[in-house]
Amino acid sequence: MTDSSALSPILEARGLRRVYQDAGREICPIDGLDFSVHLGETIAVVGPSGSGKTTLLQLLGGVDVPTSGTLHLQGRPIHDIADDERTALRNRSIGFVYQFHHLLPEFTALDNVAMPLRIARQSKTAAREQARAMLAAVGLSERLDHLPSQLSGGERQRVAIARALVTRPALVLADEPTGNLDRETAELVFGLLVERVKAAQSALVVVTHDPLLAQRCDRVVTLRRESRR
Ligand SMILES: Nc1ncnc2c1ncn2[C@@H]1O[C@H](COP(=O)(O)OP(=O)(O)OP(=O)(O)O)[C@@H](O)[C@H]1O
Ligand SMILES: [Mg+2]
Repeated sequence: MTDSSALSPILEARGLRRVYQDAGREICPIDGLDFSVHLGETIAVVGPSGSGKTTLLQLLGGVDVPTSGTLHLQGRPIHDIADDERTALRNRSIGFVYQFHHLLPEFTALDNVAMPLRIARQSKTAAREQARAMLAAVGLSERLDHLPSQLSGGERQRVAIARALVTRPALVLADEPTGNLDRETAELVFGLLVERVKAAQSALVVVTHDPLLAQRCDRVVTLRRESRR
């Protein structure tokens, strides 16, 4: 990596816009947004319900495509590449954490975290070894063989964080990862997420309703309610 590529953003949105057609009218929650994320940076996205936070994360993650504007991930134009190429780029470069853990119920914590590595065709032994190390990093060495149903809400979110980070993604996107937890557990899990992303020298964009948690990030982006026309 050259010095200039280290300084250039890993994610860069220009004039990003997403229009939904809804019952004969247009809803435009993201309307001309300029946004960039550098490696090592943690960014909180806040704003009222309906202001477009989830829409923004889906665009940044290449799950959804913008109506107009450009979006580059590690220099690649994800607004303008084929679906399978976008999926491959997403799997390689992005880790996701959601409000509800989305762990596979019939798999242990260890195998849930190993799963993205197995999908990336690593051997079972190698995948489990890295999953074990990542679960240790989120303080769950004693919970490797537990099923999601045998874990507390906070523990499940920690497993979800380990799963998002185990592939060493350049970017982690998290949509209200602590929205379902009590205050004390939310603070612990949010702190862990920020700390682990920093340790991995990755970047984080995290949606939260909680202004105190948002302040733990390097930067806060505030979305307003969408314009309706
Ligand atoms: N698929 C869709 N079709 C039509 N409208 C949509 C669609 N998805 C989202 N919207 C609308 O876009 C706006 C933004 O939604 P979004 O889910 O991004 O908000 P949010 O900020 O994440 O809200 P919350 O805090 O409640 O999760 C809302 O008015 C929503 O109803
Ligand atoms: Mg949302």
